[in-house]
Amino acid sequence: MAINESGKRVTAASARAHTRKSKNKTPFLFSSIMIAQIAVATSVGVLGWAYLALLKPPPPKVCGSPGGPPVTSPRVQLSDGRHLAYKEDGVAKEKAKYKIIIVHGFDCSKDMMLPISQDLIQELQIYILQYDRAGYGESDPHPKRSVKSEAFEIEELADKLQLGPKFYVLGLSMGAYPVWSCLKYIPNRLAGAALVVPFVNYWWSCYPAKLSNEGLGKMLAQDKLTFRIAHYAPWLVHWWMNQKWFRALSIMEGNMAIFSPPDLELVKQLSAAPSPGQEKVRQQGEFECLYRDMIIGFGSWDFSPTDIKNPFPDNEGSVHLWQGHDDRIIPRELNRYLAEKLPWIQYHEVPNAGHLLIHNASYCETILRKLFTG
Ligand SMILES: *[C@@H]1O[C@H](CO)[C@@H](O)[C@H](O)[C@H]1NC(C)=O
Repeated sequence: MAINESGKRVTAASARAHTRKSKNKTPFLFSSIMIAQIAVATSVGVLGWAYLALLKPPPPKVCGSPGGPPVTSPRVQLSDGRHLAYKEDGVAKEKAKYKIIIVHGFDCSKDMMLPISQDLIQELQIYILQYDRAGYGESDPHPKRSVKSEAFEIEELADKLQLGPKFYVLGLSMGAYPVWSCLKYIPNRLAGAALVVPFVNYWWSCYPAKLSNEGLGKMLAQDKLTFRIAHYAPWLVHWWMNQKWFRALSIMEGNMAIFSPPDLELVKQLSAAPSPGQEKVRQQGEFECLYRDMIIGFGSWDFSPTDIKNPFPDNEGSVHLWQGHDDRIIPRELNRYLAEKLPWIQYHEVPNAGHLLIHNASYCETILRKLFTG
């Protein structure tokens, strides 16, 4: 017999059992909670460390900020306070017959040289505006950048530079998604549009699954995976693009397998000439230019190109899509599909041409002539 703490009489056996229970149970409970707490704290710590050390991109080195690169180009200030750097070329905008805004692609900038001859500029009286898209070159990063913001940025740039009510847009490769955005959001401001070797998002809802899978299937395995990461796990992009264990985007490692024979011809020609401004393209950090481009481009869009209404129902302008037949970066089937669904797009599939087709002076001239004079 024994007396327990609450003063009840208990048998020795039940007391022993009770003691055993409380001796065993309480410490067990205590330690499992503690282990769980330690585990949670540790994983939060590890995740936090991983986030800061591996996943979170470093802050951009903004042009003109203390320690940042200098501002050397003219810039306009947008209504939200950001600056866009630009470069004007051709005849004065006041007397130009055709005013065109050229939207650069991935890892490029306003300083990209296109083979547009002075003869053509004079004959057609062309004014050319190139600008650094947000986060590229000397344009401020835009952490809220989106498909939509690209169109409104172009519109504001045109208005700040007083281009008038309408202008032409030409988007190259990755720079085509801002042009799709213009067709969707500011069609009334366009005199015409050219999508040149335009980027495709394999996750646009308009694509049949079979078509996007086949298109993706043509890409190198490392690119396929990179596009998928940009789409499904954008928070992983910074880490993925900087890790050293697996190969990421082929274009960033100078992999020539992505160029078809006609492209290689042009690469030879292009690498012989200096490319001014190339060193400034990513000077503010890769994240706000390159990675954000991938995340937005391959992300989930609010619309599909096939949702866009004909911007020129009375034929007051035209929209052209130029695709190289031998483009290994953009599968032609996917752009052909868009052109089939959008009868107001004039589709041009250029034989014996690849992704770099606009760098061939004769194609470049054809593209501009078609856009301006039909
Ligand atoms: C440019 O295109 C023309 C065909 O229009 C072709 O004959 C020429 O070889 C191309 N030039 C280069 C450098 O690829």
